[in-house]
Amino acid sequence: MSGPLVFAHRGSSAALPEHTLAAYLRALEEGADGLECDVRLTRDGHLVCVHDRRLDRTSNGRGKVSARTLAELEALDFGSWHPGCGPDADEPVDPARTRLLTLERLLDAVHGAGRPVRLLIETKHPTRYGGNVERRLVELLRRYGLTEPGPDDPVRVTVMSFSPLAVRRTRELAPTLPTVLLLDTLPGWLRLGRLPFGARIAGPGIALVRSRPWLVPTLRAAGHQVYVWTVNEPDDVDLVLAAGVDGIITDRPALALARRG
Ligand code: G3P
Ligand code: CA
Repeated sequence: MSGPLVFAHRGSSAALPEHTLAAYLRALEEGADGLECDVRLTRDGHLVCVHDRRLDRTSNGRGKVSARTLAELEALDFGSWHPGCGPDADEPVDPARTRLLTLERLLDAVHGAGRPVRLLIETKHPTRYGGNVERRLVELLRRYGLTEPGPDDPVRVTVMSFSPLAVRRTRELAPTLPTVLLLDTLPGWLRLGRLPFGARIAGPGIALVRSRPWLVPTLRAAGHQVYVWTVNEPDDVDLVLAAGVDGIITDRPALALARRG
């Protein structure tokens, strides 16, 4: 493989409902180098793969994820809202693969892939959970031997956040885990060159990269790798390939892989 790593954002989430096992397995079949997922805590302290604070958009449930127990969330349907699971879908999707996905189940699936897979885990709302997300996450990763993987371990985890505080917490808890600081605006410290709190990788959004052609070269000149999200359009894939980024985070991994060549 040459060129940047291709990460499936929430799974192959243009084709299938985001954050479901169905979407992640599809991304692995398509040949994605890695998978991206967001994690939140349930009321009883389990890490689950859900993007929004509320259940309403991506399930048949209502209200906040953090107000429900794991058992309550497991009773919900996280697939039927998406056209990929609707009556016009190309092929039927096993409903067992569109239930709630816990991070543990995702780790098991990644280990079952039988090939190297990168996992980008984004902690959502670290201030609201008061550091518990990072603590639980590092505990779980340690249990799976993923905080300090050996040279032959096929699974590699990187932790991401928009919050410098969360990046700092993760680095304090597990200094060997690589971290991405996500950027949706241009912070003042960018003038200093290096990312704060030891984040190794910069994660600017595609809108920033499109409007500031100097951004990727500046970050790379400062010694950072650059992973760009969420790159879904062919022109944008070509733009970030030409810019020499290190990672492309996309809802359409097959498209990015085909253009990467
Ligand atoms: O990969 C980074 C990207 O996922 C950040 O935005 O809202 O999709 O989590 P969001
Ligand atoms: Ca995310």
